[in-house]
Amino acid sequence: METQDPGQRTAMEELLARGELTVRGRIREASNAVLLCDVAHEGVTAACVYKPVAGERPLWDFPDGNLARREVAAYLLSEATGWGLVPPTVLREGPYGEGMVQQWIEADEAAPEASLLALVEGEEAGEGWKAVGFAEVGEGRTALLVHADDPRLRRLAVLDAVINNGDRKGGHLLPGPGGGLYGIDHGVTFNTEDKLRTLLWGWAGEPLTDEALDVLHRLGGELADGSPLATRLAELITTAELAAVRQRVAQLLADGRHPAPSGSWPAIPWPPV
Ligand SMILES: Nc1ncnc2c1ncn2[C@@H]1O[C@H](COP(=O)(O)OP(=O)(O)O)[C@@H](O)[C@H]1O
Ligand SMILES: [Mg+2]
Repeated sequence: METQDPGQRTAMEELLARGELTVRGRIREASNAVLLCDVAHEGVTAACVYKPVAGERPLWDFPDGNLARREVAAYLLSEATGWGLVPPTVLREGPYGEGMVQQWIEADEAAPEASLLALVEGEEAGEGWKAVGFAEVGEGRTALLVHADDPRLRRLAVLDAVINNGDRKGGHLLPGPGGGLYGIDHGVTFNTEDKLRTLLWGWAGEPLTDEALDVLHRLGGELADGSPLATRLAELITTAELAAVRQRVAQLLADGRHPAPSGSWPAIPWPPV
């Protein structure tokens, strides 16, 4: 699989980083300021989101740096895996100051989110699905929360374990055009403490795939002190957080398994969608 030299920018990164940014609107339901924009450079235009640092709601458990930088760091790690799970994301100045700018992913009408997550009656996930846990669905009834047994989600579960994602909910899974799947909203990541909150617990405790083991081995090497990737990450997250990334990669390789929830109940984000 192609991986990107962290020193080299792709054409999309170049456009996002250097293009002229025009704000088109604001995404209403977002908890932080999320601005829908156009970015234009040398006759090429793309839709993107711009999240200015100034629009971030402070979080007591993420006192260092800012969410925008964590989002860019998550993109760099996704690129280092070669899995391309995070839309191109850069840090830059915009009309409201520094922020992250990320390529907009057009929703794939043919692949709704319902193809990834479901609530089912009974105790079994069923063929092609993986069980997450039981959820209250009102009127004293519970249902089994399941996600698709999909190799793209499985890769994302590994990336989330590496970046320590605290918010992998349904709305942060975007099936894109051409069979792609993207994860978005990586502001609450890279904490030094275990914050993994995700819907993708279906493989908890199962052996990692050979592909994931290969990727993690390579990633461990690419994160070495002074490497191009480590140098870029050091501008985005703290020294302790970077050390914790290395530690999580080493732990995944030592276990050879997908992480399992530490409590009796899997840590899932709230609300889950
Ligand atoms: N790159 C993107 N492509 C398509 N839609 C996006 C993208 N980034 C954000 N969105 C949309 O905007 C909403 C809010 O963005 P999100 O990153 O979740 O912000 P917040 O930090 O406020 O939760 C998402 O739920 C999604 O619908
Ligand atoms: Mg969100």
